[in-house]
Amino acid sequence: MSDTSELETVNDAKGLGARVKAWRDAGLSIALVPTMGALHSGHGVLMDQAAQACDRVIVSIFVNPTQFGPNEDFKAYPRDGAADTAFLRERRVDLLYAPDVDALYPDGLASSLSAGPLSQNLCGEHRPGHFDGVATVVARLLEQAKPDRAYFGEKDYQQLCVIRHTANEQGLAVAIEGVGTVREADGLAISSRNAYLSDDERTIAPVLFQTITDVAAKISDGQDAGDVLAEGTSKLRACGFGKIDYLACMDATSLHPDISPSRPARVFVAARLGAARLIDNVAVPGWPK
Ligand code: PAJ
Repeated sequence: MSDTSELETVNDAKGLGARVKAWRDAGLSIALVPTMGALHSGHGVLMDQAAQACDRVIVSIFVNPTQFGPNEDFKAYPRDGAADTAFLRERRVDLLYAPDVDALYPDGLASSLSAGPLSQNLCGEHRPGHFDGVATVVARLLEQAKPDRAYFGEKDYQQLCVIRHTANEQGLAVAIEGVGTVREADGLAISSRNAYLSDDERTIAPVLFQTITDVAAKISDGQDAGDVLAEGTSKLRACGFGKIDYLACMDATSLHPDISPSRPARVFVAARLGAARLIDNVAVPGWPK
């Protein structure tokens, strides 16, 4: 399929299973890239890496209701099937899995999995139930597609940690691959939610990445983490950000605030800018990866 303008699409687990079985029987390796659509070049890099590693690439598009809170943007979340299909046709993608709700939630809309210890702080604290919804839908997608590898972005670093934990807990035989954050030229992490920014807000948005980069460098230099995080928070406020859910430096494995130069650590932020809730994170440079 990849060389033609056609894009094979299936909408249910049966159709997906048949295609996956045929590839497996032919001895082909399979990659899965789960998305919620509104595809952009950040998603594209995940697909490119998947295509480099595996014979066949499945992209799923599903705006998962269980990972949105009651006051979040499930309804407003950008959906553009035609643009997404055009995007996928330009890439080496073999199959689009666009399940209907019943295909993933045959027993109704509830999360069946608890995301576990890595979901307690950062976004987990501010979006109750969010990571249970992510863990549930990703586990179901992985069970249905049975890929050798599945690709996720470090832009959603806590999500990546939760998914690694879930795959492990569920005994799923899949390699979870993390991919570095793709950014606009000015540093803003590319996100479907950047579409919510007004022109003025878009000029302010890169301050988020500048701030966490600066905070991470100062922590690496040995400055007091509490002081530089407070300074960073003030800077975000002064630049026009609204509610700052968190600006924090955490151990990159446990996601707890006990950090040490002998272990990997990351600076994480989530902040409102107008109608958008933006998140980003960077590694503390010079500390182990
Ligand atoms: P979505 O926001 O569509 O993102 C799909 C994947 O693309 C995620 O793994 C995300 O981390 C990655 N991604 C998004 N922007 C990126 C960027 N700028 N650079 C690198 N990777 C980026 O995340 C979700 O959907 C959902 O929670 C999902 C995992 C599909 C479960 O519903």
